[in-house]
Amino acid sequence: MTVLIEHQPVMLEEALTGLALKPNGIYIDGTFGRGGHSCAILAKLQQGRLIAVDKDPAAISSGQKLMETDTRFSIQNGSFANLKTLVRQINCQGMVDGILLDLGVSSPQLDEAERGFSFKKDGPLDMRMDPTSGQSAAAWLAVADDQEIAGVLKEYGEERFAKRIARAIINARQEAPIDTTKRLAAIVAAANPKWEPGRDPATRSFQAIRIFINQELDDLQRCLDDVLEILAPGGRLVVISFHSLEDRIVKRFIREESRGDPYPPDLPIPYVQLHVRMKTIGKAIKSSKAEIEANPRARSAVLRIAEKLP
Ligand SMILES: C[S@@+](CC[C@H](N)C(=O)[O-])C[C@H]1O[C@@H](n2cnc3c(N)ncnc32)[C@H](O)[C@@H]1O
Repeated sequence: MTVLIEHQPVMLEEALTGLALKPNGIYIDGTFGRGGHSCAILAKLQQGRLIAVDKDPAAISSGQKLMETDTRFSIQNGSFANLKTLVRQINCQGMVDGILLDLGVSSPQLDEAERGFSFKKDGPLDMRMDPTSGQSAAAWLAVADDQEIAGVLKEYGEERFAKRIARAIINARQEAPIDTTKRLAAIVAAANPKWEPGRDPATRSFQAIRIFINQELDDLQRCLDDVLEILAPGGRLVVISFHSLEDRIVKRFIREESRGDPYPPDLPIPYVQLHVRMKTIGKAIKSSKAEIEANPRARSAVLRIAEKLP
């Protein structure tokens, strides 16, 4: 089997353990990327099946090669926000033994200048995981008003200087369109009075615009809303987040489903009537020191696991 190492999978062993793989189970990898996790899952399956999804056509091309060599594997282009539809199409509602989400962007997306994700490389300011649909970052920055831009920078990038940067973007675009990554990075750097040590001043703004353009948090919430319909009893959900906002959404979802319906704490409600739907498995897991040294992308990763109750 080919393991495609263009992207070093983060917390691979922890994710496999979290999925509690059954050799003949049905699994979903909602973020195929370059198949690091998928290949490792397939290596542990016997007659099982793995269905993968990715928004990025480049990830799909890479997955199609794997599909040619392994009949247990299939891949579809699309968002994990629509997993429920995919699972209904293949008549597997309530039958999936595990879902893995390894959120965010892949190394090839960051490394290829023409994808427009990186402030370190000059390229067209695109940032779409699926470049065939939706609005590019350049198209959005050409029309958004300063309040909207500042709101995105503040909400998704926790950028202290969101308003200044938004104003600088509006001023700069009156001179010429902001259509390259280097130009946006330079505008942000010039408007950012306090650079954080060891961090490029454009880091927060690029992250915020990418999350907004790809509707990353909405997609995550939509996927979680459907998880219970997709998973089999005892099925596992494993999510690796790289951003505190993503992790907050996952943590809240698991906490609420593990607690059941909200009642005032002093009401004597029997446990069965609380409709507890999931069980939290262990605590949040962070990458080991050794992994972070070998793969700095793992630095901000947090892995959470939950299991659907019977
Ligand atoms: C961190 S990478 C996954 C890497 C993968 N686990 C591996 O080992 O190669 C994230 C991938 O998820 C994809 N992605 C992000 N959000 C998505 C969404 N809502 N639906 C489908 N794919 C998504 C990205 O295009 C990217 O390829």
